[in-house]
Amino acid sequence: MTATSYLGKPTSRVEGRAKVMGTAKYAAEYNVPGLAHGVVVSSAIAKGRIAHIHAEDALAVDGVLDVFTHEHRPKLASSHEKYTDEVAPPGSPFRPLYDSEILFSGQPVALVVAEEFEIARFAASLVRVEYEQESHVTDFDAQRRRGAVSKRDPAHATASGNPTRAFEQAAVRIKAEYRMPVEHHNPMEPFAATAVWEGDDQITVFDKTQGPQNCRNYVAGVFGMPREKVRVLSPYVGGGFGSGLRPQYELPLAVLAARALKRSVRLTLTRQQMFTLGYRAANVQELALGANSDGSLASFRHDVVAMTSQFEDFQRDFVNWSSLLYRCANAELGQRLVKLDQNTPCDMRGPGGTEGAYAIECAMDELAYAANIDPLELRLVNYSDRDQIENRPYSSKQLRECYHQGAEKFGWSNRNPQPRSMRDGNELVGWGMATGIWEAMQMPARAKAVLTANGSVEIASATADIGPGTYTMMAQLAAEMLGVPLDNVTAKLGDSALPDAPVEGGSFTTSSVGSAIYAACRAVQKELLVLAQKMAGSPLAGAKLDHVVFAEGKIRHKNDASREVSVADAMRTGKADRIEKEAGAGPNEDGKYSHFTHSAVFAEVKVDEQLGVIRVTRVVNAVAAGRILNPKVAGSQILGAVVGGIGMALHEETATDHRFGRFMTHNLADYHVPVNADVHAIDVFFVEEKDDEINPLGVKGVGEIGIVGTAAAIANAVYHATGKRVRDLPITLDKLMRD
Ligand code: MOS
Repeated sequence: MTATSYLGKPTSRVEGRAKVMGTAKYAAEYNVPGLAHGVVVSSAIAKGRIAHIHAEDALAVDGVLDVFTHEHRPKLASSHEKYTDEVAPPGSPFRPLYDSEILFSGQPVALVVAEEFEIARFAASLVRVEYEQESHVTDFDAQRRRGAVSKRDPAHATASGNPTRAFEQAAVRIKAEYRMPVEHHNPMEPFAATAVWEGDDQITVFDKTQGPQNCRNYVAGVFGMPREKVRVLSPYVGGGFGSGLRPQYELPLAVLAARALKRSVRLTLTRQQMFTLGYRAANVQELALGANSDGSLASFRHDVVAMTSQFEDFQRDFVNWSSLLYRCANAELGQRLVKLDQNTPCDMRGPGGTEGAYAIECAMDELAYAANIDPLELRLVNYSDRDQIENRPYSSKQLRECYHQGAEKFGWSNRNPQPRSMRDGNELVGWGMATGIWEAMQMPARAKAVLTANGSVEIASATADIGPGTYTMMAQLAAEMLGVPLDNVTAKLGDSALPDAPVEGGSFTTSSVGSAIYAACRAVQKELLVLAQKMAGSPLAGAKLDHVVFAEGKIRHKNDASREVSVADAMRTGKADRIEKEAGAGPNEDGKYSHFTHSAVFAEVKVDEQLGVIRVTRVVNAVAAGRILNPKVAGSQILGAVVGGIGMALHEETATDHRFGRFMTHNLADYHVPVNADVHAIDVFFVEEKDDEINPLGVKGVGEIGIVGTAAAIANAVYHATGKRVRDLPITLDKLMRD
């Protein structure tokens, strides 16, 4: 592609106005005739059985339609396989209202449905549940100390050389243990589903999800319905961060009630119930690094233990990232799980990489001090141009440029390496840096493009837009490729009936869906060129598709701008009212290269010396992520992810009360996230990175890279400011003040 009318240009979200004006509708905002309202009753215990549910009082309330429980519900699939989904980890997925077994605190045990929401809520308070309680295990540390830890999963492990001996013989050594607590995603929009009963056992659900087709397939599996009878829509999603990748229980429960009552039902989870879904798993990471006196790594050991549920083994790659970033002949990397009586963790922005990079990049910082080498210099000394796990080069890796340009912008060379050496009045000033890395994945996806004779374009794919600007990306690509104004393009997504697409996650939407749009638009271009060449005396006679560009409503020869045909003329002459093409694209699987995005994060903190209050006053994040289609929305992705990184470093933690086996900070007052007052200057920029191998567009994706490394950069800055190394997130002032 050579035309660049829209690609690479900072462009505001095409759906921005609808969101700001309140006309964008979310899952709980669809009003349909005869809508009934559901409220979920949550388990008060973490483990055991339901002995009996007393629903009589609730049922006696005027306006209550029914109370569904495991004893009183329509037929559901029994096999756990029917409850699996596109992104389910290994194990036996939770089956809502299936049987009497309680697997975690807050598990849905009853669904009250009434004519009005308020009636349902009141009646739900009257449902009494008798339990046969068993003792639960929710204390991650206690279980870990007890040795209740799984074996290493070979899928998440690496071993090479003799790391133990190399460590013992190394000139410089550090050993440290880093900890992260449970975190919850807390998107603005609570999970909700409006299940519209269409009659004839057909159902349409407006659901809060990152994957409408994943949810459609799940509903079809759980209720034994043909997929054609189920349609799931999520045109707007008020944030996800991974919480909406898997179907959540509001979906099957709304469908269950709608099918039983033959009526449309809406179900919204409370903020408190949002803490009964997935979360980022608490983890402990032990690192042991050995280096030669020049800082070159001699030994790298990284051992992670993370939590999961009793019924599923959720784990992403925490380790292995060091083998992508740093040359080291002797390595031992592995991860293990502790099973607890909690719901299963789930993906949360940059799952695995975010956690791993936090520990790896803090350990590298500690090594830099131990070796008396600048932390940035240490990264450059050990820089790896090869993926040492797959033993192959990268399709592109401009991380060196990220380091150089980021350092330049931040002013890193002015840093006094001595901890506690820089100050601003009462505040100690700290400068820290870290590396970010994330997979540049691509999934099979399809898209449809329709061009009509009046010059309007519709582009469609069953992806979602959880906020990164997917509508805009789709519209920009179509406008660019078909040579029409952006305003002429309508993008459609968030509908399981559209051409197949994966969940929106893993930073792979632009590479996957964008490549499908590219393919669909190429097919339209091809047909247009045929029509143009059929015209009598066509100025484009003999031209190949690669010889022409589509711009300003024209098909124009690249080498001779006078050879052009208007798209409208070509369609009129060819008697084509509309050209409709659907096409698919998949990842490049030739295996020659590894595909990753990279970043260098620099952070400045100011710490009040008396009170220990930490402010992140400045962050520079330099990102290399292939071709950036829209620097404005891509930059916003990084910006938001940096804020997430500030939260991870200083604020976010879900506390558990082990007496009840329950997450206790389950509201937005007790669960702290950064607010405006916590966010200061964040400077995001993209380093130029050309990648011809990865896909025809050369795109990698930016949803997650912005959070990876950010918490480490901040933690390292706190150490530089204070001389105190807190290895236990979040870094709260009490930990900083403690001796
Ligand atoms: Mo992202 S954690 O893949 O929504």
